[in-house]
Amino acid sequence: MCGIFAYINCNVPRERRHILEVLFNGLRRLEYRGYDSAGISIDSDNDDDHHVDVKEGGGQGLPPLVFREEGKIEKLVTSVYQEVDATDLNLEFLFMSHAGIAHTRWATHGPPSPRNGHPQSSGEGHEFLVVHNGIITNFMVLKETLVRHGFVFESDTDTEVIPKLAKFVYDSLTAETESSGEAVKFSQVVMEVMRQIEGAYALIFKSSHYPNELVACKCGSPLLLGVKECGEENKRGAFVSSELTLAKDGKPKEFFLASDASAMVEHTKKVMVIEDNEVVHVRNGSASVFKFEREKIQNSRGMPRPPSVERALSTLAVEVEQIQKGNYEHYMQKEIHEQPESLTTTMRGRLIHGGSKVKGVLLGGLKDHLKTIRRSRRILFIGCGTSYYAGLATRALVEELSGVPVTMELASDLLDRRGPVYREDTAIFVSQSGETADTLEALEYAKSFGALCVGVTNTVGSAIARGTHCGVHINAGCEIGVASTKAYTSQIAAMTMMALALGDDTLSSCNRREAIIDDLINLPNKVREVLKLDNDMKELAKELMEEQSLLVFGRGYNYATALEGALKVKEVALMHSEGILAGEMKHGPLALVDENLPIIVIATRDATCSKQQSVIQQLQARKGRLIVMCTKGDANLMCPNGGYRFIEVPQLQDCLQPIINIVPFQLLAYHLTVLRGFNVDQPRNLAKSVTIS
Ligand code: F6R
Repeated sequence: MCGIFAYINCNVPRERRHILEVLFNGLRRLEYRGYDSAGISIDSDNDDDHHVDVKEGGGQGLPPLVFREEGKIEKLVTSVYQEVDATDLNLEFLFMSHAGIAHTRWATHGPPSPRNGHPQSSGEGHEFLVVHNGIITNFMVLKETLVRHGFVFESDTDTEVIPKLAKFVYDSLTAETESSGEAVKFSQVVMEVMRQIEGAYALIFKSSHYPNELVACKCGSPLLLGVKECGEENKRGAFVSSELTLAKDGKPKEFFLASDASAMVEHTKKVMVIEDNEVVHVRNGSASVFKFEREKIQNSRGMPRPPSVERALSTLAVEVEQIQKGNYEHYMQKEIHEQPESLTTTMRGRLIHGGSKVKGVLLGGLKDHLKTIRRSRRILFIGCGTSYYAGLATRALVEELSGVPVTMELASDLLDRRGPVYREDTAIFVSQSGETADTLEALEYAKSFGALCVGVTNTVGSAIARGTHCGVHINAGCEIGVASTKAYTSQIAAMTMMALALGDDTLSSCNRREAIIDDLINLPNKVREVLKLDNDMKELAKELMEEQSLLVFGRGYNYATALEGALKVKEVALMHSEGILAGEMKHGPLALVDENLPIIVIATRDATCSKQQSVIQQLQARKGRLIVMCTKGDANLMCPNGGYRFIEVPQLQDCLQPIINIVPFQLLAYHLTVLRGFNVDQPRNLAKSVTIS
């Protein structure tokens, strides 16, 4: 949902080309968040000082340059370099300090076009420029007021009110403070803007009035600050100083602001997660973080110094290789194939087994809360899309081992109907990104009723990870393909461990729990085995590539597999597909069955397998075009008359089977997409991290 990025070098001489490449690379890393248009702003160097080798960037009277292009980032890159050459800007020019901002857009207000791209501007001279992720809900009212003050709007975006409001505020504050001679600070302007805007946002401001400075702030959308002290890089490019503070110490530094860590990690691992209502002001080699206090600012036009925030920098646990494609064609393909490793990481250090030890699990983030969860009146699984399905896949096991009823809630639906939540409830929020707006809003909603809130996320430091009382990190590593794959299987593995921890006070389930733990240990190898179906799935994709539609029937643990498998095909291969609870087949969907419509029936061994056998028979009786997913060696048993396609998978404990069974669907969706010629990693109209509700 839009990616924002900024780079500022302080007392580090950098060429124009370097600055541009840092900005473009930041955008490339964030492109999965939106790819409708992209833009950057850099300083102009078209003054008369071309003979000077090293200079400060920008300056009053030199309007920054703004480039915006519809479509992919590479289009922007090409056009910027053409433009830079065309205007004879000196690429070798060194900037001692320079502030650049960048944006990749997922369109909400106004169709994709350069005019609606970011940075959005205050108008002529680009006195204020803004990149934004989120939505400003009161933009219409602000726009009317600003129009009355003579501002002319050029875009259809909600964002455009922000730079224009910043200019209006700047002009007013400057006029007010003129007699005192007191200078208006950039952060003051931004805080006054924050006071007037409503909605969700992460914003980065650049201004010709404040060359070599950047101000960023956030409320509801994610924002990270990264700091790199120059000249202290080890061989792997990792930052090695442990003493770094944000204070001005005269050392050359580079600062980065970004929507997420993937845009930082190649530069620095030292980051600070910016909290809601915090303002970051970067200038003179230092970054100050302030708390924005609406009331104080409202009451005092004199604007007292806001309280500053002191928080240590944390170290990112992401390696650069994780955000690269390696030998794969696409991120989705890489992420499907790295599931044996991502599942291993999810389980690392959490399974107790071997020797004389009683088998069990250890989830550090939950151990102090297990008693409360066991005593809950009910457990709610709350999430969106794939994350919701991961909850659905583990629902039965959590009920079985904890004895607590589990209710499934799509975050948006819980909010739409203001569904009841009680203080005796445990609400479990499942989210890969940890930033999904609906899930985040549902978290605030559940908290307001006093429920215990548990997070299951893949992103350390994300809003959901920070906002919940306790939780489990799934540790699947960066997931960059917009379609979730490895995060889904790791979510199920993590929640399976959660169910085991909840049940480990019950003697009667001891054998069952031990059997699940044994299979968890085997899981990565079993996933490796299923991945060998890659070619078979490619063949199946060739057979299905011209089809309009696909049905997937599942039940029990694999109802979630049917829904998630259909979602994968739908979202990346752009083929209509529907996951159906097999028990519902006779209540409507059977009418669709004929010899043309392909249907995948999931009938791997578990307590519902015999029911699936009878579903297969009923579909056969209607000449259905079947593809049967069954346990290895069961093909004859399932369809004694043969004549169908089979996807044979290894067997595991029923509750772990969804992890195995989803893999062929992921491979099928991947190959269908490639064969149909669509973009695998950036499906049409979608973006990862849905940070607007
Ligand atoms: C589909 C997919 C989405 C996400 C959903 C929630 O492949 O990725 O359905 O699962 O947008 O996102 P998170 O898990 O980040 O909350």
